[in-house]
This record gives sequence, C-alpha cells and structure tokens, in this order.
Amino acid sequence: MGHIIIKNLQKEYIERRKVNRSLECPYVACGEANVVFENINLDFEEGEMVCILGPSGCGKTTMLRIIAGFEKASAGNVIINEKTVTGPSSDHIFVFQHNALLPWLTVWENVELGLRHLKDETKKKGGIQEYISMVELDGFEDNYPYQLSGGMQRRAELARALAAEPDTLFMDEPFSGLDFLTHMKMREEVVNMHQYIGKTVVIVTHDIDDALIMGDRIVVMNGRPAYIKLTRKLDYPRPRNYENMPELSELRNDLFFMLGVNYAV
Ligand SMILES: Nc1ncnc2c1ncn2[C@@H]1O[C@H](COP(=O)(O)OP(=O)(O)O)[C@@H](O)[C@H]1O
Ligand SMILES: [Mg+2]
Repeated sequence: MGHIIIKNLQKEYIERRKVNRSLECPYVACGEANVVFENINLDFEEGEMVCILGPSGCGKTTMLRIIAGFEKASAGNVIINEKTVTGPSSDHIFVFQHNALLPWLTVWENVELGLRHLKDETKKKGGIQEYISMVELDGFEDNYPYQLSGGMQRRAELARALAAEPDTLFMDEPFSGLDFLTHMKMREEVVNMHQYIGKTVVIVTHDIDDALIMGDRIVVMNGRPAYIKLTRKLDYPRPRNYENMPELSELRNDLFFMLGVNYAV
C-alpha cells in the first residue's frame, strides 16, 4: 500500500486582481492564468520516503495538497493504490506546515483523535501510549499544546498523524521554525519512524540536507511554471553523512547549483 502515480499534473490559478503587470506582478495580469506547474509525472514506490525539494514559491505545497486530495488539479491526475484521488482520505494523512494541534485538547486527547475509529478501549489506550512513546513524549500526556516547546508540539502532531495508521503520510515542511538542534533531532526521529512503520512518506522541504539524509528518493522542482528537474533514487545506508560519501557530496553540490546557489556551504 502507498504506491503513488502522478500523471501530467498541472495547476494554474486565474489571477483575479486588477494589477499593473509591470509594477505589482511581473508574471500575470487580471484574468490570465498563473501556471504554477505543468507536465508533472512521478511514480513513488510503496514504502518509500520521498523528499520533494524546491525553492520557496515553486508549488511544493500546492502539489502536496493535490496529491493528498485537498485541492483539485487543473489537469492530470493522482493515483494512490490504483485509485484516482478525488478528495482527502483517512488513509492519507497530511501533516501541515504550521501547528495543527487542537489547543483545547491535551497531548493524549489530540493523539486520541487519530484513533477515534477504534471501539476497543484497551486497544485504543495501548495505541495512544505507543505513539506517544514513539515520539518520546512520555510524561507529557496531560499537557496542553501551549505547555510544550515547538519541537514537542511537532512530535505530538506526528504522533497524532501516525495514530491514524495511514498508508501514506504527507508532511509539508515539518521542521520549519525549529531551532537547529531540534531540527536535527526531529529529522532523526522521522527517519526512525519511517523505518518502524514502513509506510510511504512524502515530505516537502526546501532543505537540501534534509532530503539527502532522509530520502529514499529525491524530487527537485524548479522554474516558473515549475517542472521536475530531477528525480533520483538514493540507495545509501543510514545514518548518512555526506562528508564521508563522495557520491552524496557531489549530488549535494549539484543540488545547490540546480537551486541557484553556486557555492555549497
Ligand atoms: N489559493 C491560491 N490562489 C492563487 N495563487 C496561489 C494560491 N495558492 C498558491 N498560489 C501560488 O502558487 C505558487 C506556489 O505556491 P506554494 O505551493 O505555496 O509554493 P511552495 O510551497 O513551493 O513555497 C505561488 O506563486 C503562490 O502565489
Ligand atoms: Mg510551501
């Protein structure tokens, strides 16, 4: 489960503002189509961790939302497990870019939301505890989101998403706004989580190192309209350290160049 095929996907927005093309918006005038991306063809294998990389504004979030069924494509389609996506599904869980915990519920209650389909109370309790432990939030079950740090909130969101036991997990910039160390730690946890659950995970990021360290496959989007500049399978053991892996290091330089930075840091 979790095989994703994307066929000739295109998304455009019709510009509704009356703008002066040369001043406020250099790309489109009122009534014209703003083509975000076109001709997107991709195939993600079951169980893969896919990292979609691209500069800000190139259409990553839009594409992920279409794959997850939250938004309609202008052309083309998405097929998950041989079914065309027509809307959101509890089999495909989306973890949003910004905090999506319900603030009036505790960590336990937030995770419980993902397991509300379970009738058996013992099984449900066991499940909630399992996912809370998986993201190392034991002891914080009764805390409200405002009583947690940013990183802990992200982990609680992850636990809630995993508790729904989806076939596919979509994550939009799951590390944005986290401090450096928390980012590293979360990244490690997402890799461990993926190894544990073995489900297809599609992560949107603008961070090249995230993609190199986590991805079984990387997809690079760029341009306006955006297109797929590269899709590459990364068959390297983990944990990965590109400094000791010449091929990965070379790819890292290529990725920086591809995204418009001439000197990798
Ligand atoms: N609802 C919308 N209406 C009009 N344009 C939109 C809408 N959502 C996104 N866009 C445009 O689509 C482009 C891609 O946005 P987005 O997918 O958020 O990029 P990314 O996630 O890569 O930063 C941007 O130019 C943005 O202005
Ligand atoms: Mg985005």
